[in-house]
Amino acid sequence: MVFPSTTDEVAKVVSACHHHKVPIVPQGGNTGRCLGAQSDDENAVIVHLKHLNRIRDFDAQNMTVTVESGVILQYLQEYVAERGLFFPLSLGSEGSCHIGGNLATNAGGVNVLRYGNTRDLTLGIEAVTANGTVLNELHGLRKNNTGYDLKNLLIGSEGTLGIITAATFKLSPPETNNEHAFIAVSSVTDAVQCLQRLQSRFVGKVSTFELMPRRAMQFLAQHSDVRCPIGDDHPWYIWYKLADANPDAPLLDDNLAFLETLMEDGVVVDATVSQNESMKQLFWQIRETLVEVQKFEGASVKFDVAVPISAIPMLIERGNAAIEAVCPGIRPYPFGHLGDGNIHYNLTRPKHLSDTQFLDDYKEQLVKTLHDIVDDLGGTFSAEHGVGSLKIKDMQTYKDPVALDLMRRVKQAFDPFNLMNPGKVIPPLA
Ligand code: MLT
Ligand code: ZN
Repeated sequence: MVFPSTTDEVAKVVSACHHHKVPIVPQGGNTGRCLGAQSDDENAVIVHLKHLNRIRDFDAQNMTVTVESGVILQYLQEYVAERGLFFPLSLGSEGSCHIGGNLATNAGGVNVLRYGNTRDLTLGIEAVTANGTVLNELHGLRKNNTGYDLKNLLIGSEGTLGIITAATFKLSPPETNNEHAFIAVSSVTDAVQCLQRLQSRFVGKVSTFELMPRRAMQFLAQHSDVRCPIGDDHPWYIWYKLADANPDAPLLDDNLAFLETLMEDGVVVDATVSQNESMKQLFWQIRETLVEVQKFEGASVKFDVAVPISAIPMLIERGNAAIEAVCPGIRPYPFGHLGDGNIHYNLTRPKHLSDTQFLDDYKEQLVKTLHDIVDDLGGTFSAEHGVGSLKIKDMQTYKDPVALDLMRRVKQAFDPFNLMNPGKVIPPLA
């Protein structure tokens, strides 16, 4: 394992590996979900990027920041906020994940609805290519039609095409005028309707819309100090956030009036709005902690699927019936970014099975069952976590064969000796 602290040092390591035909695995905050930054090849060199952690430039007028890959996401958020702007990428692991990993996996998180994924926030990129040369596309341009967009090939490539060493991100005005709500609905169909109406009423102002099941409130009550701020026995919960760049916009009043109408129409059955910062923190804490408490109930199978938003009710209906048929007593735990169609359809083991019994006897069948339904609904088996080595089989099964063929050829062009994070993202030819 090596710890370079400059792009030049990364280039020297890669160049030496290229010369000796040694595989390279880039690694950052180690918070990935798909085993993309790990290696079981004892000959591989792990290139850890934590010392490549400088902020190179902040341009208030261009509203951009240029950072190195080893910068921790939360540090970047704070750095930008202290200078009066906003970097919207936000996810549960933001206290330890690295910008390089966010780029490598095209990370999503809770603000995608309004600001897009990491890809949409990135204007320029610097990367070390497989032979050790440095690709310098590190610019703060919002328009640049000069041929193939190599930046967007590298983003989401999980280290298989090169090592991203720095990026220039666009920034936004701060969300100083923001309002949060925590609401309960009776069905996922109502949740989707609520989203639709929210987006029509507050055009361009909805930044977060997160779905949580009743079971999450139960697990939180049993395994944490975090408590649901409204009745905890509703089928579904939503945390949403509105933000307005205009500090004088009457967002609170408008939101209250909106919620009143939705309650009158029976779409929302219970609700509270944030009265202060600590309530906003509580909503975020509920959403963050519900991921952690799942482990106290035994092994689970985790998912990162996306379908068109209109298909989410069908996904949950078909999904729950199908997985119960495969594994009776299973405890579905679907939560996540309903606002952009991305559901973490996690499954907690039945109470009567041991972790090993559950994983050994059911995991494979459960993954196939749910991913088949997702595929049938026009969805994807990986929305924001990437492929790594964990979802290689799914790539083979569900990815369009023409797309896979083109990806193999791109890989060959970037990395002819297959040294860059081999075994990740692209399945071997059968
Ligand atoms: C989340 O949205 O909380 C995460 O993507 C889920 C996870 O880390 O498994
Ligand atoms: Zn997520």
